Amino acid sequence: MAAAASNPLPRHIAITMDGNGRWAKARGLARIAGHKAGLAPVRMCIRECGSRGIGALTLFAFSSENWGRPAEEVGSLMGLFLESLEREIAELHAQNVRMRFIGERRHLPVRLQARIAAAEERTAGNSGLKLQVAVSYGGRWDIIQAAQSLARECSSGALRPDEITEERFAKALALAHVPDADLVIRTGGEQRISNFLLWNLAYAELYFTATLWPDFALADFEAALTFFGNRERRFGHTSSQLGAVQGRGS
Ligand code: IPE
Ligand code: IPE
Ligand code: MG
Repeated sequence: MAAAASNPLPRHIAITMDGNGRWAKARGLARIAGHKAGLAPVRMCIRECGSRGIGALTLFAFSSENWGRPAEEVGSLMGLFLESLEREIAELHAQNVRMRFIGERRHLPVRLQARIAAAEERTAGNSGLKLQVAVSYGGRWDIIQAAQSLARECSSGALRPDEITEERFAKALALAHVPDADLVIRTGGEQRISNFLLWNLAYAELYFTATLWPDFALADFEAALTFFGNRERRFGHTSSQLGAVQGRGS
């Protein structure tokens, strides 16, 4: 922790938790065993973000495209989401976590939708880590649903088209309540976005690791924070403009 603590921490970490299937396959297990084993690093990341005062964590659990997987895997995953939520919600609440789900929830099983609504309601007053779980989520879906809601406001006369600024648009997106992602972590060795947050990644630092998600341990999380702490975030400016405020250990 010492190495990362002296450098700035991300305000919002987004994680693509990839590699569960390969983890299971390497052990001769069914893919769902990999998804189950992915729960331990989820708990670790939530705990670490909370204890370090990182404001927001967004976890990519199931993409719009993942609906195209074999029905058996999709069904097992939906069952696992339901079970995990039932089991973990009391502990998350005790940790003062505020939980939200982002994604196209009308596609989810009705029981899961009900659990999600209950979890969001139960933790709505919590002031700790803002935890977003992206299920049935796609970055393009998010942008389209924002555009549709703004278009509806325009056609009702509540909004003028020239009032659609970046700020106004961002408020219509699923992550309106958290700052843009500062750090994206993707496990499993692929270096792609896979339709995760598109708008909110505009200036994120990208950390890729070959570690498979079920193996992602505290040392890996700390390595990602150290990577982030060593970036010089220029946001289009020059290095010298940043002065002593930002930069590698300066
Ligand atoms: C990520 O692991 C979890 C989901 C997409 C639901 P994968 O299931 O994609 O694992 P790999 O990439 O096949 O190893
Ligand atoms: C991305 O992983 C989605 C999640 C981790 C939930 P995938 O395994 O679905 O990504 P691709 O298809 O290999 O890009
Ligand atoms: Mg994958």
